[in-house]
Amino acid sequence: MMMAMIFFITLLNFKLILLCFASCTIPLSERLADSRPNIVLIMADDMGWGDVGANWPNTRDTPFLDYLASISMRLPDYHSGASVCSVSRAALLTGRLTPRTGVWQNFASTALGGLPTNETIISELLKTVGYATAIHGKWHLGHQPPFHPSYRGFDEYVGIPYSIDMGCTDNPGFNYPPVKACPKDPPLFFEQKHEHADDVKNVIEADLTVGIPLYQCLTPHCPDNNCNKEIIEQPVNLSTLTQSYIDNDRRFIRRSIEANKPFFLYLPLSHMHVPHDYAQQFKNTSILPSIYGVPNIYGDTLRELDYHVNQTYQLLQNLGILNQTLLIFTSDNGPWSSKCDLAGNQGPFTGIWQQLPFSSGGGGGGGTAKFTTWEAGHRIPFIAHWPGMIKGGTISNAIGSHLDLMPTIAYLAGFTLPLNRSFDGIDLSPVLFDGSNQGHEYLFHPDMLGHLSAVRYNQYKAYYTTYPAIDGACGGKEGMIMHHKPPLIFDLSRDLAESTPIIVSQSVYDAIDQALHEKLNDIASTPHTQADYRIGGLDARACCDAGHIVCRCTD
Ligand SMILES: *[C@@H]1O[C@H](CO)[C@@H](O)[C@H](O)[C@H]1NC(C)=O
Ligand SMILES: *[C@@H]1O[C@H](CO)[C@@H](O)[C@H](O)[C@H]1NC(C)=O
Ligand SMILES: *[C@@H]1O[C@H](CO)[C@@H](O)[C@H](O)[C@H]1NC(C)=O
Ligand SMILES: *[C@@H]1O[C@H](CO)[C@@H](O)[C@H](O)[C@H]1NC(C)=O
Ligand SMILES: *[C@@H]1O[C@H](CO)[C@@H](O)[C@H](O)[C@H]1NC(C)=O
Ligand SMILES: *[C@@H]1O[C@H](CO)[C@@H](O)[C@H](O)[C@H]1NC(C)=O
Repeated sequence: MMMAMIFFITLLNFKLILLCFASCTIPLSERLADSRPNIVLIMADDMGWGDVGANWPNTRDTPFLDYLASISMRLPDYHSGASVCSVSRAALLTGRLTPRTGVWQNFASTALGGLPTNETIISELLKTVGYATAIHGKWHLGHQPPFHPSYRGFDEYVGIPYSIDMGCTDNPGFNYPPVKACPKDPPLFFEQKHEHADDVKNVIEADLTVGIPLYQCLTPHCPDNNCNKEIIEQPVNLSTLTQSYIDNDRRFIRRSIEANKPFFLYLPLSHMHVPHDYAQQFKNTSILPSIYGVPNIYGDTLRELDYHVNQTYQLLQNLGILNQTLLIFTSDNGPWSSKCDLAGNQGPFTGIWQQLPFSSGGGGGGGTAKFTTWEAGHRIPFIAHWPGMIKGGTISNAIGSHLDLMPTIAYLAGFTLPLNRSFDGIDLSPVLFDGSNQGHEYLFHPDMLGHLSAVRYNQYKAYYTTYPAIDGACGGKEGMIMHHKPPLIFDLSRDLAESTPIIVSQSVYDAIDQALHEKLNDIASTPHTQADYRIGGLDARACCDAGHIVCRCTD
């Protein structure tokens, strides 16, 4: 009879939790009985699988994430629900694939819609079981009521409604092509610009470059349904953003503890999206010299991100609540490869077939990360930490997905998934807490039109359509969209770079066709939604002072 290590600890909400490691013989359901862990979900933006040193030893700018991985479980075969921001976030928060949610492309800075409100998301369900909920970071699922995050089950929202390249700042940071600063001097007021017909064009252009807004909504819903009233900084200062999130994390967590509530803190950070900017203390801290012989801006940014994760961890540790907290670190999609040295690291997932010339039977070139269904587009870092529940320093080869967070959190927090729709994820608890290697047998990847044109089946990756990143690779070489019937198949157990398609047995082709067919049938025959992608005019902007041409907060 095996000796199991068991601990009883009293939770803040005075419930008992039974802890033991993977070798434990006590069933998972009993170990978790009555416990509702805090959940801290940190999601970087455009961060590559190879940006975490624990995944890819060539990277050495993540000392804390590497330490965290050593005391956590890592899933090297974990995937986002899509390869661009809004689409990936919709899949994560709903647990449903793109054709179900209708969110298949990014929302614009003047979007009228957002993630459809009859899609139910994690924060809304956690509220029904008593969690305090916050989002500090990038939302990108609509900024008008009722799509704004403070209408979507979050008690508070501090953050930027979309990507940090969707507007201007005063201190623009690093991007290609270089970003222009917001116009400031003389102050350009909308009325003044309108006096001259020629300026109308400038006004329209300026509409696309309003200052990047920072919201701070400390209660649900915006006053008078006007979320522009909750913008506290426009344009935001990107070099102080990380510290501002850290301060807000601290305040929210302390407040939740005082209120005796389990909490959900969703931290979808703006790092590692361009433009890169960070606090002075991180300048020249990267230990890898840039290949271009200038300071390694990407590495410095990674250092600040790593610092943020460490600060979050230190806070949980100082408050003595690490044992009651599931801490997850991941990314939304792979790196934006056309940004060259300002983009993240794809690790071994180079998508070689796409890069080969047509004359060699390849895809003709182009980027193989963000925007694409190639591995580097959606394979992302995943680290899960929970002392006593997750055995430290372990690696699971289970195939996991952002789609799994909804069912996993449902199990841990004790809510049931809505019955009148289908979900695409699996409960990862047996993998995380019980040493199971059973992840997805099949996983479906939406392409840039939202179609499920790439399918993972165990070690195989099948492409019905291949295409390069919409904006090319670093250097701008572009390939072509190509359709494949039968699908092009790579064996990831031997070919992580997806260089050489293989012929498989008919039964494998049949299994993949059949699984895709069943998935599409289920999608067509159960509730699915269309997102509203219309854009509005000047009134649709996230705008602090509409009198100012870049919406600058004045006073
Ligand atoms: C994490 O932060 C703590 C406290 O500031 C510091 O002592 C430690 O060195 C940091 N760890 C890493 C790996 O950076
Ligand atoms: C942003 O904040 C930093 C640190 O406080 C400050 O040095 C810098 O001047 C600010 N930038 C702008 C454009 O205000
Ligand atoms: C960073 O290094 C560059 C040269 O590599 C130098 O010009 C710059 O002053 C340094 N910045 C800081 C803050 O040390
Ligand atoms: C947290 O759990 C670990 C492993 O079960 C245990 O060693 C440690 O004492 C616990 N810490 C607290 C503060 O309960
Ligand atoms: C699904 O059920 C929820 C309650 O769980 C309800 O609010 C919603 O209207 C239902 N949707 C449909 C399409 O039946
Ligand atoms: C959301 O509403 C639309 C339009 O009423 C409906 O077609 C769709 O089935 C609903 N989706 C869900 C998930 O209930």
